[in-house]
Amino acid sequence: MRNYSLIAPAKINLYLEIIGDRPDGYHELAMVMQSIQLADQVDISANGNKSIKVDCQSLEVPNDKTNLAYRAAELMTEKFPDAFAQYGGVDITIHKNIPVAAGLAGGSTNAAAVLVGMDLLWNLGLTQSDIEELGAFLGSDVPFCVGGGTAIATGRGEQLTSILGLEDVYVVLGKHKNISVSTPWAYKSYRAAYTDSYIRDKEDLAARASAVHSAPMVQAIIHKNIQEICQQLHNDLEKVVLPEYSQVSQLRAAFASLGALGTIMSGSGPSVFAICESKSQAESIKSQVHKIIPDNNLELFVTKLISHGIQVASQK
Ligand code: C5P
Repeated sequence: MRNYSLIAPAKINLYLEIIGDRPDGYHELAMVMQSIQLADQVDISANGNKSIKVDCQSLEVPNDKTNLAYRAAELMTEKFPDAFAQYGGVDITIHKNIPVAAGLAGGSTNAAAVLVGMDLLWNLGLTQSDIEELGAFLGSDVPFCVGGGTAIATGRGEQLTSILGLEDVYVVLGKHKNISVSTPWAYKSYRAAYTDSYIRDKEDLAARASAVHSAPMVQAIIHKNIQEICQQLHNDLEKVVLPEYSQVSQLRAAFASLGALGTIMSGSGPSVFAICESKSQAESIKSQVHKIIPDNNLELFVTKLISHGIQVASQK
């Protein structure tokens, strides 16, 4: 097999709580991450030489080392030099559907697809947890993107516990094309502004454990109680992003006023999603948002929650 097409779904955060500082400079998190059907397609083939090539129709996606998919391929060449010598490099083509720099893990899911694809191309026989471990070298969201579905994520976001997922729950999702939020800025601002529950003692594990408040969300998911899930939606980063980016709060307010069951920003934004009663409600909200926010740069999608991460669509 010399060519694989992989489906790489985006993620949203149903819950994102910032617990405190970590010794590695990142932030300790308690999250619930969720895959959605909105996905990129990543084609990967062995090119028989020593190069890594990345190609994408979107001008916003770089084709060099600043692309996480490129770095994923490079990481594989470093970790598996024998396979690299035997099979050579890879050509990667990304068919972009997920908005770029949106808080939807678009780059991370592309990188996860490259890890999965190269494991197959190079006949490495890696387990999901091997691939997740490799993913953690690339970024905090990459390990989740490998297996996807619904998962509790702690640590930097790379410690995962899967929970039986929610399916056929529809969401409407929006992102302003002309706004991007710097993730490091969002975390730094939160750390500076929110001192009450924030734990600065990197070693105080007991304090860290008792600071986590995600249990009601997890229970709501386990009981498939959509109303309660909507009550428990939480994202600490909203506290710094919403006051700074009025378009993000406007979109959130628009979704709420159009009757969505619950709405919140995903990751560090600027994407906002809203959980809906049905596909038709999601479509109806999508069609009405422009009446409230007449902005041609606002991209809107109807999608649904799914229970998987990277999948092979075809192989040749
Ligand atoms: O891990 P990743 O490269 O995706 O993270 C992007 C940025 O988000 C980091 O450079 C850091 O500023 C911030 N971050 C953090 N704590 C985390 C995850 C991300 O501070 N747990």
